[in-house]
Amino acid sequence: MLDFNQIVPHIPFLLQGVIVTLQFVSVALIFGLVLGIVLAIFKIGRFGILRFIADAYTSVFRGTPLILQLSIIYFGLPQFNLDISAYQAGVLAFGLNSAAYVSEIIRAGIQAVDKGQKEAAAALGIPYRPMMLRIILPQAFRNILPALFNEFINLTKESAIVSIIGVMDLMRRAQVVNAQIYRYFEALLFVGLIYYLLVMVLTLIGRMIERRLQRGD
Ligand code: ARG
Repeated sequence: MLDFNQIVPHIPFLLQGVIVTLQFVSVALIFGLVLGIVLAIFKIGRFGILRFIADAYTSVFRGTPLILQLSIIYFGLPQFNLDISAYQAGVLAFGLNSAAYVSEIIRAGIQAVDKGQKEAAAALGIPYRPMMLRIILPQAFRNILPALFNEFINLTKESAIVSIIGVMDLMRRAQVVNAQIYRYFEALLFVGLIYYLLVMVLTLIGRMIERRLQRGD
């Protein structure tokens, strides 16, 4: 039977996981964003070799399980005398993985801006850089935003797998409490609710920003 009284003394411990999870996801997302932008520039650029590298990167990181990438980094790197903390390994794996997805989001967003915009800029004699920065990218950004928030949400949920290497995130803390009170449902339901709330908050923030950007039209 469910008995939520059992987890009451453990609630502060569980709630600390919110901060760990949120902080972990934010750092990984920013890392992924920076690398993703670089890869997207490669993908739409005119250097064939860079395009090839960026495409291969996305192919590999999207084509293998995240949990495998995480395991290679955390368990594999020490074999090369590269010691890395669980948290660092997690951020690295999630950042590298996310960059593969983010670069595709950005590439598609830029290429989705109507060709006429580029042609009009060229007809007006606007050089490449201001054309990109003032005309194409602001429009691309609006296309991209929902997908980027989707990535943020994905990372938040996927972050639960860092529990396997012992990062004290929400998921891991639920497991610790399970082991202490010999019950599973209560703590798991509790952190499940927290994940759900986090995702709802991110969804709302995404919608708010989207609406604000639309008002600019
Ligand atoms: N569960 C999938 C995997 O293991 C999804 C990874 C999602 N990553 C992302 N950055 N959206 O590969």
